[in-house]
Amino acid sequence: MGFKVAVVGATGNVGREMLTTLAEREFPADDVVALASSASVGKQVSFGEDDILDVQALDSFDFKGIDIVLSSPGAKVSDKFAPRAAKAGAVVIDNTSRWRMEPDVPLVVPEVNPHAIAGYQKRGIIANPNCSTIQMVVALKPLHDIARVKRVVVSTYQSVSGGGRAVMDELFNQTRAIYVNDPVESEHLTKQIAFNVIPHIDVFMDDGSTKEEWKMAVETRKILDPDITVTATCVRVPVFIGHAEAVNVEFERPISEKRARAALQDAPGVVVLDHRADEGYVTPAEAAGEDAVYVSRIRRDPTVPHGLNLWIVSDNLRKGAALNAVQIAEILAADYLGGRRSNVERLRRRTG
Ligand SMILES: NC(=O)c1ccc[n+]([C@@H]2O[C@H](COP(=O)([O-])OP(=O)(O)OC[C@H]3O[C@@H](n4cnc5c(N)ncnc54)[C@H](OP(=O)(O)O)[C@@H]3O)[C@@H](O)[C@H]2O)c1
Repeated sequence: MGFKVAVVGATGNVGREMLTTLAEREFPADDVVALASSASVGKQVSFGEDDILDVQALDSFDFKGIDIVLSSPGAKVSDKFAPRAAKAGAVVIDNTSRWRMEPDVPLVVPEVNPHAIAGYQKRGIIANPNCSTIQMVVALKPLHDIARVKRVVVSTYQSVSGGGRAVMDELFNQTRAIYVNDPVESEHLTKQIAFNVIPHIDVFMDDGSTKEEWKMAVETRKILDPDITVTATCVRVPVFIGHAEAVNVEFERPISEKRARAALQDAPGVVVLDHRADEGYVTPAEAAGEDAVYVSRIRRDPTVPHGLNLWIVSDNLRKGAALNAVQIAEILAADYLGGRRSNVERLRRRTG
């Protein structure tokens, strides 16, 4: 007997990718339920190559009997439904920002802090970090193990899919409007995104940073090390899928370029593609649809005693969201819920 899984936000960018990832990785599910707002009742979503699921309304859904919930309906919706699902006995793996910084909710990137999953028992909720944080900490972890990361300065180049389906449509419609000389309308972003970049993701905070920038700092500390300082500038760019980051890292101890490269090459989830030549680096267009966190442009920063510069790229809908959540579900199923189900041997092999 396999697990019963509910995907909340199944009609959205992340939810659809979660269904694809569950199917691709052959998660041992007996039953998969697709949930969204009541406006989507009557719609259908694909699950793998062959299956179609009818979308059900989250509001009236009874979570009794559901083992694992993969959730991405936005923070406000998660605030209400996640405790209800947990109370009914499900473990909620939540992609929204709602639970990430709650002290008794684990914030997990399997390549970095898989042991934190054990903390799910307190609230029945595990939080998936922000997409920009995930790809950065996957690459920082092997370097931190060698030389202790002290300070990070990061500038992001974030695709519109990070804002949901509506923001992808906005880029498409504005681009088309510019080509056919129609008026350009901005509904979901504050300024024109087509042929432009916008240094503003999520709301402004009192200190002048945006909440997206704040998330990268506090989430990195919660996942990797509370002593690391992070200063970020987060920018939306006219790319459909894939986030890029220019990352400057200052370490406590010496670390050579060669050693950093070797550690990254050995690190789980990381692919180093770094040739100092035309095409010798990865861009978001190549990372879209792929699972890895790509690291390119590895080079010393000679302006500080122990510094490196990196270019980090990943698919924000996969490792930045759906894949990370499904990896957590795999560990949860194999190492924590295994007693409740027998079909976990394949998962054990996958999660090591
Ligand atoms: N995109 C990323 O790269 C990324 C990465 C990490 C985390 N996240 C987070 O994941 C969440 C979703 O992102 P997304 O990109 O998938 O957004 P999206 O494409 O706009 O999809 C939103 C989903 O939430 C559902 N939803 C909205 N209101 C609901 C309600 N009242 N009850 C039930 N379901 C409701 C929508 O269903 P309907 O179709 O019925 O409206 C849809 O399935 C956000 O919190 C986002 O911050 C996104």
